[in-house]
Amino acid sequence: MALVTGAESGIGRASAAALAQGGRDIAILYFRDQAAAEATAEMVRAAGRNAACIQADVSDEAAVHAAFDAALAALGPIDCLVNSAGINMAGVAVAEMELSQWHRMFATDMNGVFLTSRRFVRDRHAAGEGGSIVNISSIHAVDVRPGGADYCAAKAAVRSLTETMALEEARHDITVNCVAPGMILTPMNAHAVQDAKYRASLEANVPVGRAGQAEEVAQTVAFLASPAARYITGSTVTIDGGLSLVLGQGA
Ligand SMILES: NC(=O)c1ccc[n+]([C@@H]2O[C@H](COP(=O)([O-])OP(=O)(O)OC[C@H]3O[C@@H](n4cnc5c(N)ncnc54)[C@H](O)[C@@H]3O)[C@@H](O)[C@H]2O)c1
Repeated sequence: MALVTGAESGIGRASAAALAQGGRDIAILYFRDQAAAEATAEMVRAAGRNAACIQADVSDEAAVHAAFDAALAALGPIDCLVNSAGINMAGVAVAEMELSQWHRMFATDMNGVFLTSRRFVRDRHAAGEGGSIVNISSIHAVDVRPGGADYCAAKAAVRSLTETMALEEARHDITVNCVAPGMILTPMNAHAVQDAKYRASLEANVPVGRAGQAEEVAQTVAFLASPAARYITGSTVTIDGGLSLVLGQGA
């Protein structure tokens, strides 16, 4: 069974569907939108698997433990964790950034990954079983953007946590990897999804000439969580249509 955070939307939803198609039941962790979580659950059931929708704020330690308890009770042991919950960058320079924004970003995008991952590996150790964690980082963990200090630093921290935990968990047969998407058309990129002219202006920067779809990220998430990927750990898979390769060009 896989537990997917942020599974009511975007990359989390697509990952839940892809993991279900790969044969796993899914615990759908959602934040605010229960109807959206139920829509993901329908996708999981359409793939012939069981689903449970569980509300949790991933930055809240007690809520994360309660969510894992509820998922276990509903669907049994969790052998795969996908951390997709996240918020977008503040869009302001550090000079203008409030400390509260900095904390808000780290609470969700970093502490959330720490809290779910810690509970996951503790449960796997207690069971004497292996498993897999897949974290959603970003190309902006490395290729930073003005106005994105909060997001870029949090995503770099996720990548670092991924690598540290890969070493710590290797002897426990738990793989820990992350994917680094570029521009993906999800609600996080609502402006680009809704405004074709704006989207085209951004897509002009992508070597393959288009933005990515959540399903394209999800296929890699499902692969990293599959038996075929047992020898891959501590890796970051970039999924960006070549965007990160050209960020250093032109000067
Ligand atoms: N869309 C992109 O272009 C892109 C690129 C790189 C990385 N990412 C990363 O992919 C992940 C998924 O993003 P997405 O594009 O699917 O966006 P999205 O907005 O569709 O999904 C984000 C999800 O996180 C949930 N969430 C936010 N705060 C939460 C909290 N405190 N507790 C629990 N859930 C919470 C939201 O409810 C939502 O379901 C994010 O970590 C994001 O940073 C996205």
